[in-house]
Amino acid sequence: MALTTVILAAGQGKRMNSDMPKVLQPLGGRNMLSHVLDTAAALEPKAINVVYGHGGEAVPKAFPELTVDWTLQAEQLGTGHALGQALPGIPEDHQILVLFGDVPLVTVVSLRALLGEVPTGGIALLTVFLEKPCGYGRILRDDEGAVTAIVEDKDATPAQRAINEINTGMMVAQASSLRRWVEVLNDDNHQGEFYLTDVIAMAVGEGVPVVGVSVADPDEVLGVNDRVQLAAAERVLQRRYAQDVMARGATLADPGRFDLRGALTIGRDVFIDVGVVFSGDVVLGDRVQIGPNAIISDTSLGDDCRVHEHCVIDGVVAGSHCEIGPFARLRPGTEFEERVKVGNFVEVKASSVAPGSKMNHLSYVGDTRVGQDVNIGAGTITCNYDGAAKHRTQIGDRVFVGSGAMLVAPLEIGAGATIAAGSTITKNVPGEALAVERNRQATVKGWKRPTKPAK
Ligand code: UD1
Ligand code: CA
Repeated sequence: MALTTVILAAGQGKRMNSDMPKVLQPLGGRNMLSHVLDTAAALEPKAINVVYGHGGEAVPKAFPELTVDWTLQAEQLGTGHALGQALPGIPEDHQILVLFGDVPLVTVVSLRALLGEVPTGGIALLTVFLEKPCGYGRILRDDEGAVTAIVEDKDATPAQRAINEINTGMMVAQASSLRRWVEVLNDDNHQGEFYLTDVIAMAVGEGVPVVGVSVADPDEVLGVNDRVQLAAAERVLQRRYAQDVMARGATLADPGRFDLRGALTIGRDVFIDVGVVFSGDVVLGDRVQIGPNAIISDTSLGDDCRVHEHCVIDGVVAGSHCEIGPFARLRPGTEFEERVKVGNFVEVKASSVAPGSKMNHLSYVGDTRVGQDVNIGAGTITCNYDGAAKHRTQIGDRVFVGSGAMLVAPLEIGAGATIAAGSTITKNVPGEALAVERNRQATVKGWKRPTKPAK
């Protein structure tokens, strides 16, 4: 049977206390709904239909490149009403899988299992047993164990509230049947909403079979209604990512303190210390070591690179055996060949550095080409900005820049040249030359420092 997946994502998420539609709240560095969309797409349905409403066009606008069917639910009158808005666009003979935009961690494996259990003409319902079922709809079963209804937490009697089996929200049924039931839902309940969950009792009343399929891992079906649940979902997701990264050959100092907000490709025997945040596309070669509290985005580090603690690295490509930090800031457009060394309080931007060059302390290098085996002394600044435009600096192979030099761009320093410490260099320096720009030192012998007058 052809499958359409409907994702309900129109709710406001009152319990978030946010100006943002709930399904756009971030999870693993992207919005919650994108996770559900990925899972839905992995099932390769004929169509995906997303019901949006609260926050208006902000939700579809968050997915400019996505080709799904968007259904507007102008007023959020409940989950049954939400599905009802999407039904007219779905062929009668399609099977419908209902997913919730706020249940983002369900796995493809569990949904395939659910799809495999749909009884002919009936409903398959994904459930789970929770130690603390509070807040969720409870699954009611008869003496034979057959599902008879779902009762919402707010409508449940104390005895029903003690039931540990809950409704995850995910179900599968044929479009024609869902249409028949959804059309006659009422809002005669505690929340005054048209509950999708009420279709279960209707189906049972018609003698239609309802099968409850339970997932083993409650983390998968965590519903995100408030920020405490959002944080819990984030940890579940990060634990999954951490397990995957470990399986692929990385040692994590603490899998509970691992944060990936993008894609991480790793070689073998990588070590990642605590408090590291990866975002965008990050590639780490074999034996790369990342110290604690590094923030690394859209970066590729070659084999045997070492990042010491507290570095911020964004948009960098580094060859093998580079050493970075502690406390280095590398900005977009930075390219290191092999064995480049950058130490503490060094900022590099849009610059390429050839093998074996070093800048160990307190420097700014921007819009610069640095040759091989160059030494950039402490406190060196490439003065690349004149208040209007940026200018480039070229530093040849084997150049030695003494400490505290100001290199005023545009500037070329030839191979093997030496820049004396404390110089402000404004003119090109030929290869193998020494450039000194500073006053000669005056020394006054036996100088007596002024003293404070006696009181
Ligand atoms: C719902 C279920 C509950 C289940 C729980 C699982 C109903 C009536 N209740 O409760 O049985 O245990 O999920 O997490 O279905 N939505 C719309 N339009 C609306 C209302 C909601 O699109 O008018 C969307 C929301 O954006 C959300 C989903 O439907 O993604 C669920 O809505 P929510 O209000 O969070 O329902 P729960 O109270 O969590
Ligand atoms: Ca919910």
